[in-house]
Order: sequence, then structure tokens, then C-alpha cells
Amino acid sequence: MIKPATVREIIETARAEDIVGDFVNLRKRGTNLIGLCPFHNEKTPSFNVNPARNIYKCFGCGRGGDPVNFLMEHEQLSFPEALRWIAAKYGIEIEEVELSEEQRAEQQLADSLFIANQFALEYYQQQLFDTDRGKSIGLSYFKKRGFREETIRKFGLGYAPMGRDNFSKAAEAAGHKKDTLEKAGLVKNNRDFFRDRVMFTIRNLSGKVVGFGGRILQKDIKAPKYINTPETEVYNKSRILFGAYEAKQAIRRADECIITEGYTDVISLHQAGIENVVASSGTSLTVDQIRLIKRYTPNVKVLFDGDSAGIRAALRGIDLLLEQDLNVKIVLLPDGEDPDSYLQNVGLNAFQGYLEQQAEDFIFFKANLLLKDAGNDPVKRTALIKDIVGSIALIPDPLKRSLYVKECARLFGVDEQLLVGEVNKIIAQKIRKHQQKAAAQDQPPFPSAPPPGVGEFMEIPPPPEPEKPTIQGDEYQERDLVRLLLLFGDKSFDEDNAQTVAQFILSNIDDVIDNFDSPLYQRIAKEIQVLIERGETPSIDHFMKHETEELRQLAINVAATPYEFSENWEKKWDVVLNQKAPDENFLKDSSHGLKRFRLRKLSRLCDENIEKLRELMEQNAQEDLVLYMKLQQRLQNLRNSLAKELGTVVL
Ligand code: CTP
Ligand code: MN
Repeated sequence: MIKPATVREIIETARAEDIVGDFVNLRKRGTNLIGLCPFHNEKTPSFNVNPARNIYKCFGCGRGGDPVNFLMEHEQLSFPEALRWIAAKYGIEIEEVELSEEQRAEQQLADSLFIANQFALEYYQQQLFDTDRGKSIGLSYFKKRGFREETIRKFGLGYAPMGRDNFSKAAEAAGHKKDTLEKAGLVKNNRDFFRDRVMFTIRNLSGKVVGFGGRILQKDIKAPKYINTPETEVYNKSRILFGAYEAKQAIRRADECIITEGYTDVISLHQAGIENVVASSGTSLTVDQIRLIKRYTPNVKVLFDGDSAGIRAALRGIDLLLEQDLNVKIVLLPDGEDPDSYLQNVGLNAFQGYLEQQAEDFIFFKANLLLKDAGNDPVKRTALIKDIVGSIALIPDPLKRSLYVKECARLFGVDEQLLVGEVNKIIAQKIRKHQQKAAAQDQPPFPSAPPPGVGEFMEIPPPPEPEKPTIQGDEYQERDLVRLLLLFGDKSFDEDNAQTVAQFILSNIDDVIDNFDSPLYQRIAKEIQVLIERGETPSIDHFMKHETEELRQLAINVAATPYEFSENWEKKWDVVLNQKAPDENFLKDSSHGLKRFRLRKLSRLCDENIEKLRELMEQNAQEDLVLYMKLQQRLQNLRNSLAKELGTVVL
């Protein structure tokens, strides 16, 4: 683990303009830099880098953060990986803290497997390029398949030699322990695991080698066409997608992920310039693989080989995609073609045209396919409708569901209401089933992820989408207030430096701070209050480095967004806030605005209290009634004197 002091040093050294500038063409505009956003497609730049605040922000897609966030997002690095990247760039020496015995052992094992795998990759490549048999058998095979040398190197293609233990000997001579080689799946029963096969390198998302696939070259041998690294400490088949490392940026750019079946499909499409491709490696997709895709895009296009015997079986795996709320399209390739062969046959343009034209929404694809199978047999047709209804019921989005129901009703020639009823029945069943299970296990009714072991069929409805809070009540005003606190809170409010802006604002809202509508804005206001009480000067930097993600994000947004205050903020306040140089005496006249804010809160307290009084009267609760009447009197006095001061009439 990196020492906290080093972490701090790295974060403080990293400059947004340097780091973003490594990936985005930036040009100066005023004090900021702008460029085309790397996270979404755009023609006019809305991507901003603010060197003074050391942040980036895209006003198109909303992504924003500090240099570390940028690397994590753009390069899909983990936090420590991003730190190491920056350290390497600026030549910062990384100091590590001691790990526990156990942690170190785990780390060391993983590291040694990565190192052994990296060695194997280099070994197989060297065999491919520098040995007679490698060249004549392996390299010529890849060339015949149309792979260029740069592609072969990029995807780490290689050749594993014949013989019992050529690789093992070389690896041991290079200092790799036999035990490690076995744990990496490279050696089994004292023999090389891969022999006389062309090799495909499998990487994890950060590009480290986790395993291999080896393809046999002779046709007549009774051995599986492909063998793959068995499960190891670093290779978990169900969590890895072949090509994901090479494809991740393109997937984000295209906002779509193409899923094929084979290694060669990925490589071939990639070489032709279609880089947003991954392979499930012949097995049906797992939930983990789908989550991995979902980190980059909700849009998926699954390509099926024309002769794919397994389409009907694969349809089940695709139900999983629906369940994860991905938009799934299917492309069925012509008879006898796989993506690789078809691309090579018709060329890039025709290939892309075909994908565009043939891509069919999964539900309709499935419906049509099953409809063809069922013909006019009423029993089969009923089963088919039940099947499709089952798929539709998996879709978490009710709007999408109802669109599918409509279209499928038309397709099958049945009454729409009938389908709606069927879909609802299934959903209700699932919820019931799950509630029973949850009660039995004493679990909350909607875990955020299905428990491990839940297979291809969904037994658990997805958690209800949390209702997006709509901005209501005084939230606009509260937001503006928080913006002021964050942006200018540490500035001095008057010439004689008697108080800061934050002190001024907080002293004006002190008695209503418990009545914020937004818990988030309230939390910030209160936190600033505590800082001030401790004698510290709060600044936006404090919140940009806050341990709570939500606060960090808010601070970044505030820092990056130009002044634009809410419309319904009191007029005078607006004038004050929108003047040219907001940090020059901008709050001079603002006590008026703040008092309005407090007045709003007091008025609402009055109203709420009156409600309470009504209730108490109904209940005839004499004692409480007296108490609340007194409170009402005080609130009204406060409110009225404030209103008078402001020259406003309170109704
Ligand atoms: N596969 C496997 N084991 C097999 C057959 C296939 O693991 N015995 C996986 C491989 O990942 C392969 C994918 O399933 O890439 C698709 O299989 P297939 O279409 O047969 O292979 P291709 O990748 O098309 O390879 P090739 O074109 O060389 O036949
Ligand atoms: Mn194939």
C-alpha cells in the first residue's frame, strides 16, 4: 500500500491540465482550457479544464473531477493504479506501508502469477517469431488468417512449442518456481499445459496477463480445438471478457459494446477498426461480465454466427442482459459465417452496413425466432408467448416493458391487456417468492445485487429504482446559499476583515439551519459551521477532498459551474450575485437576501406550527396546546419583525 504522505504528495503534484492534456487536445479559452470531451461524442467542445481549481468538467455529459478521477474514468484505473500512473509521470518516488503477513502473501502470490504469465506471453511470442516451427506453423497460420504483425503483437498472440516441458524448463531457468507455474495454470502434472498450439493472451481490465487460450492446429487430432487456462488466483473465467482491456475506451466512445463468440472475431474486427468488441469466449454471458460492460455503456449488440447451433440456448444468457437493464440488439450473420469470416469476405463498409441494417431488438428477434419454430401449433404458440412474456418481465424499466408488450401483442395477434396481465403475474410471483425467501433468511427485501448462485433465471426482482428526488421547496435557495458558502465562504466580508462571508451567512441563518429541505445542503452548512467554531477557515478545497463522495462531487460541480443562480431566488439577491466580479464586495448588500431566506423558513415554520395546533385542538391536548401557542407567538414575532425590516408584508 502506498503511504498516505506519498498519496498526498501525488495528489498535490498532479496538474489537471497536464494529465487531461495527455489524452485530450486542449486549447486556451480565458483562464480555462477547453477541448472535445473524451467521455461522449461531440463536435463542439464543452469539456473544460480549470487549472486554478485543478479540475475538469464536461458541461455536455456532466462528468467532472480532479486529475485522479480523470485517470480512473478515462483509463479505467483503480485509485492506486491512477496514483502510480501520476507518480511515474512526475517522477515521484512511491513509499509503501507495510502490509499484514496475510495481505502480503496474497499480494505476492497474485504478483508472482502475473509475472509468470507475462514471462509466458514473452516466451510464446519469442517462439512464434524466432523459431522455425513457430514461424512455419504458428506465424503462417496467423498470417493466413489475415492478422498483421502489429495486431499479433498488440493482442499478444504466440505459439506454444511441442514437447513435454520446453516451457517449464525455460521458465524455471528464468527463476520462476514450479509451484508458481502450476498455480498460474501454465504447468500441470510436470508437463506444459499448452503444447503445440497457437496462443491467445487473456488480460484483465488493467492489461495484466491473467491467462491464455490455446488453439490446436492439426485437424485430425482428437483434442479440443481450444483449451483455456483453468481457474486461478488471478483468472476467474466468469469475470473476464476477452478483449475488454483493448476495447474499453472504444466502447465508451461508441457508447456501444459488440459481443462476439470468439477470440478471432475480436481480433479481426479490431484490426479493421471496429475496436469496441469483446468475446464471451464461447460460453454464455455471466452477470459479472455484464456488470463489467455496464460500466462503460448500456448498449449491447450481440453478433451470432450464421451456423450457431446454440442460438436458442444463448437466448437465455441474453435474458440476463435485459435483467441488468441493458439495451440489447441482436445481429444474426449469414449462414456459415462468423464475424471474422464475414468481415474478411465483404469488407469493412458492407460489414458495418449489415450490422446497422440487421440489428434487431432482442425481444423481437426472440419473438420472431420462436414464432417460426412454433408455426401454427397452438400449444407451441402458447409456450412461446409465455417465454417472451418471461423475458419482458425481466426488464426493470416499466416504460420499456409496456412498449414491448404493445409490439408483441401485435406480433402474436393477441390482446394487449392479456399480455399485460401475464407480465404482471410473473412480476408479482417473483416479488412474492423473494419476500418469502427474504423473510426466511431475515434479509432486507431488495438486496442490491442478486446473491451468488442465482442462476440464469431471475428469482429476485431488481431493487426498485430509488425515486430521483425532485428539487422542491427551498432547495433552489439552499443550493445557491451553499454555492456562496463554498465559493466565497473563506473571503472576508467587509473591509476591516471582521468576518468572513461564511460567518456572515451562517449568522444570518443560524436559527433556521435545522429547517433545510435538502439534507445534503444542510450537511454542508452545518459542517462549515463546525469548522468556523473550531477556528478554521473552510474553503472549497476542504470539500473537494472530502471523504464523502457525494460532497466531493457537489463541490466539484459547484467549482466548475459558471455562476448561474436560480430563477426564483429573490430579485435583489440575483442582481447582487450576477454582477461582474462576484468576489469583489459582492455580498455588500446581501444581508437583505439572506434575511429573505430566513423569512421564508420562519414563515414555513409558522405554517407547520399552525397545523400542529389544529391537530392538538382536535385531540384536546390542553398542555401541549399552551406550549405550541407560545411557540407560535414567538415565531410570529420573529417573522413579523423580519418582514417589517424588509418592508415586506406577510400574509
Ligand atoms: N471455445 C473454447 N473451446 C472450444 C471451442 C471454442 O473455449 N473447444 C471458445 C473460444 O474462446 C473461441 C470461441 O469459443 O474463440 C468461439 O469458438 P469458435 O467459433 O469455434 O472459434 P473461433 O474463435 O471462431 O476460432 P476459429 O475461427 O479459429 O475456428
Ligand atoms: Mn468461429
